[in-house]
Amino acid sequence: MSQFRVIARNFSSSSAVQSAIKNVTIIGGGLMGSGIAQVAAQAGQNVTLVDVSSDVLAKAQKSISTNLGRVAKKVYKDNPQEGEKFVTEALGRIKTATDPAEGAKNSDLVVEAIVENLDVKHKLFKQLDAAAPAHAILASNTSSLSINEISSVVKRKDKFGGLHFFNPVPVMRLLEVVRGAETSEETYTSMMTWGKSVGKTCITCKDTPGFVVNRLLVPYICEAIRLFERGDASARDIDIAMKLGAGYPMGPLELADYVGLDTNKFILDGWHKKYPNEPLFSPIPLLNKLVAEGKLGVKTGEGFYKYEKKQK
Ligand code: CAA
Ligand code: NAD
Repeated sequence: MSQFRVIARNFSSSSAVQSAIKNVTIIGGGLMGSGIAQVAAQAGQNVTLVDVSSDVLAKAQKSISTNLGRVAKKVYKDNPQEGEKFVTEALGRIKTATDPAEGAKNSDLVVEAIVENLDVKHKLFKQLDAAAPAHAILASNTSSLSINEISSVVKRKDKFGGLHFFNPVPVMRLLEVVRGAETSEETYTSMMTWGKSVGKTCITCKDTPGFVVNRLLVPYICEAIRLFERGDASARDIDIAMKLGAGYPMGPLELADYVGLDTNKFILDGWHKKYPNEPLFSPIPLLNKLVAEGKLGVKTGEGFYKYEKKQK
């Protein structure tokens, strides 16, 4: 057998790490949800991708198809036919829906990746708790909210946890698995195994603000915005400085645009409300201004930088 078969196994149901979770529902088809849907489908799982907007779902299917193509090009570089089969099969495992209750009804695991707002997440999880099978695990991909606070509205608190992925999901190898106060050992183990089954290296973190990565990364991004706002250096020079001086793949302002300035603002506002005396979490007028102007970064074509619209 050629090496392709061996590599391909990582993308199929016979991947090295097996999870009992076979049917996964992802709620939110934006930046994160589409990536999570992709890695689960690549791992041979049946995926239902849910978004309130059918336009978002159409866009997500297109980007998943493109990104699966990037994977296939690498893995099956000498066997394009197998590559096409890989893409078609993975896409075939992804269904879409606009109703979260309908999307969750046959699920073993529901991963929520909607807007970073506690009230909106509460409304959704009440619906999901009522609709998902009793054995299903409910998880949030929140960047900054408390898993205990999100889970306060569900009955199955033992089957609730955090599964925090990183953007771009198909490329970033980390998954933070977050235990809430009432997450059971069985749920925690299932989440860890599932994370490995979709190809991620899992770390465990308590339910603390920002978990590990964002507790370090968000204040760093915010300090860069403040530096720029004060006029201490240009955006380009701040980014070059961190790429060439600290070896980061992207500068902090590029990264802020990549994550989405709305998401950065939701995180900061939430933490400031909770910890008003922490200067690292204080509001940033420039960030507020850009968000108010709809300049959300890469996804809207402008943030700290301007972006060309992708070719259709
Ligand atoms: N799907 C599949 N593959 C993708 C992809 C995608 N969406 N995006 C990029 N790739 C692949 C490319 O095909 C390419 O593969 P090869 O090198 O094997 O050819 C590789 O990834 C690199 O891509 P590019 O050449 O297009 O671009 P790059 O080298 O500039 O890397 C990057 C892009 C991976 C995004 C890199 O710049 C990077 O790592 N940036 C930092 C990202 C980061 O810090 N993410 C965390 C954000 S914080 C967060 O997510 C948490 C939160 O809660 C806010
Ligand atoms: P996004 O704006 O790209 O996508 C969110 C999607 O959720 C939108 O398409 C929206 O239509 C949909 N949505 C909103 N309410 C919904 C509902 N009730 N039911 C179904 N769909 C609904 O956002 P994103 O960047 O993908 O972030 C999603 C979550 O992931 C947030 O909690 C965010 O903090 C977290 N997160 C973001 C990043 C990042 O880099 N952007 C990284 C890790 C985690």
